[in-house]
Amino acid sequence: MRFAPRWDVLLLGFLLGTSGAFAADNPTPSTHEAQLAQRPGHAGIASANALATEAGFEVLSKGGNAFDAAIAVASTLSVVEPESSGIGGGFMATMYVASGHRDVFVDARETAPAAINPKDYLNPDGTPNRDTALKGPLSAGIPGEPAGLVWLAKHYGKLPLTVSLAPAIRTARDGFKPDSRLIGSIQEERENIQRWPASAAKFLTNGNAPIAGDIWRDPEQAHTLELLAQYGDSGFYSGETAQKLVDAVRAAGGNWTLKDLSSYRVRERAPITVDYRGYKIITAPPPSSGGVAIAEILNILSGFDMSKLDQVQRTHLVIESMRRAFRDHNDYLGDPDFVKMPLDMLLSPYYADGLRQTILPDKATPSSMLAPSSGQDPGMHTTHFSIIDADGNMVAITSTVNYVLGSTFVAQGTGVLLNDEMDDFALVPNKPNVYGLLGSKANAPEPGKRMLSSMSPSLVIGPDRTAVIGSPGGSTIITQVLEGILAFIDGGDAHQVAAHKRFHHQYMPDVVTVEAGAFDPATSDALTRMGYTLKTRDSWGFMNVVIWDRRTNKLDAASDPRRPDGLGKVQ
Ligand code: DON
Repeated sequence: MRFAPRWDVLLLGFLLGTSGAFAADNPTPSTHEAQLAQRPGHAGIASANALATEAGFEVLSKGGNAFDAAIAVASTLSVVEPESSGIGGGFMATMYVASGHRDVFVDARETAPAAINPKDYLNPDGTPNRDTALKGPLSAGIPGEPAGLVWLAKHYGKLPLTVSLAPAIRTARDGFKPDSRLIGSIQEERENIQRWPASAAKFLTNGNAPIAGDIWRDPEQAHTLELLAQYGDSGFYSGETAQKLVDAVRAAGGNWTLKDLSSYRVRERAPITVDYRGYKIITAPPPSSGGVAIAEILNILSGFDMSKLDQVQRTHLVIESMRRAFRDHNDYLGDPDFVKMPLDMLLSPYYADGLRQTILPDKATPSSMLAPSSGQDPGMHTTHFSIIDADGNMVAITSTVNYVLGSTFVAQGTGVLLNDEMDDFALVPNKPNVYGLLGSKANAPEPGKRMLSSMSPSLVIGPDRTAVIGSPGGSTIITQVLEGILAFIDGGDAHQVAAHKRFHHQYMPDVVTVEAGAFDPATSDALTRMGYTLKTRDSWGFMNVVIWDRRTNKLDAASDPRRPDGLGKVQ
């Protein structure tokens, strides 16, 4: 599949562009190389749950590196934060491998089963069926997370999976106290959970959610993790677990086959890199839209001297850049194994020049003037964690089962809660998904195809400091990570970056959603006068950040203050 690029914008950029016009403002060469000889000598981990952060440190203390720690953190989150991510879902990892000085992107995103039938996601009257898209086995893609963990251990870790998965297995077997967010998620989804006996058995006691202080155990997931630890890929994608997954999915109306599982493959891809004001940003390529959008936005912004502008002008330019990048997201992006995308154009500084010319100096551009979605407040149910180890290895992982508690469908006998990632496809052309995102043919579902993601795990390498950063948040992931990167470049420490107040625009709907406190009243009034519709959004992603100050050689880790159960720790 191939898409007509926006040659007009590229040409406008060539003719009128300002690429390089602000060179004086952007004089510092990227210093990615500057950190290569250095090692921090201690480690930092920030994740959305203290047990997961501690699991990472436990594995480091056993001689593991950042990649082993990432396996421990991700698998423990599968147990203690199932509402957000798990072995029934998938992840994307942006990593720096200190030995060999390599930037690596690991794509453990879910895939559509071979028997995908678009009609399953339509009601008889042709309207989108939100239930099959978001609940039950039809909503689930073939999980990528188990294969991703095996991949990390095999190619980058120092320890066997029996060691790096041990904390998760122990926690699932011995039990833990669920935090208020997990309890709230189970209460919220109670009716859906009750639709499937294995889901009810996992999450409910006598039909009710756990209460604070209960000890919660998950022996079936412990067993599934043990098989993964012992046998690697074949412990999940063939044999006992695979058979149970396929039997459970098919018995409940799904269409998975053993072949769907055995043919799942992790992909390594070249990350997107972009230079912005002397900082190198290394981030997620398709099948995430995040890196392309972040690069496009930064390329547009690099033509302005942001330091000389007031908050209203800066916010105006950031929103207009978001608007334009999200339009391209909807039109062009999908799984690179299936779709030919005009990435050269989208990432070109001349294209950014062209887009910059279309920004009105003191007025919002209505999205309808550029060319369609509705929006729903996303629950923040996905997770991001960041790690830097003593040798300078870095891991940014965003991991997801998609919406709250994924499909709410647990496959009998496995403890595996399946994702509802199929909704990230454009299941019905030009109809918004749960995050209000529209999609084109590029992101239409096809057998074996990966659904487009917004996950944007990123590394930011500056002249003196390096950050590992990311966030959950559906479509708002992209803008939240972008704003975190900008806050870091502005000098923020890990806590300031994670706490930074946020706003979001995604082209359609043509609304700026704003966190309370992001704008003072005068800024809100000025933006409203410029034509922006501002709407308060309560739900924002939990950002987990580790920063390495290479001048002092100190690490700084922070978990998002919006969530009390997270932990950023340096040791
Ligand atoms: O891959 C994606 O873009 C989505 N499945 C992420 C979902 C998410 O962040 C949920 N939290 N709001």
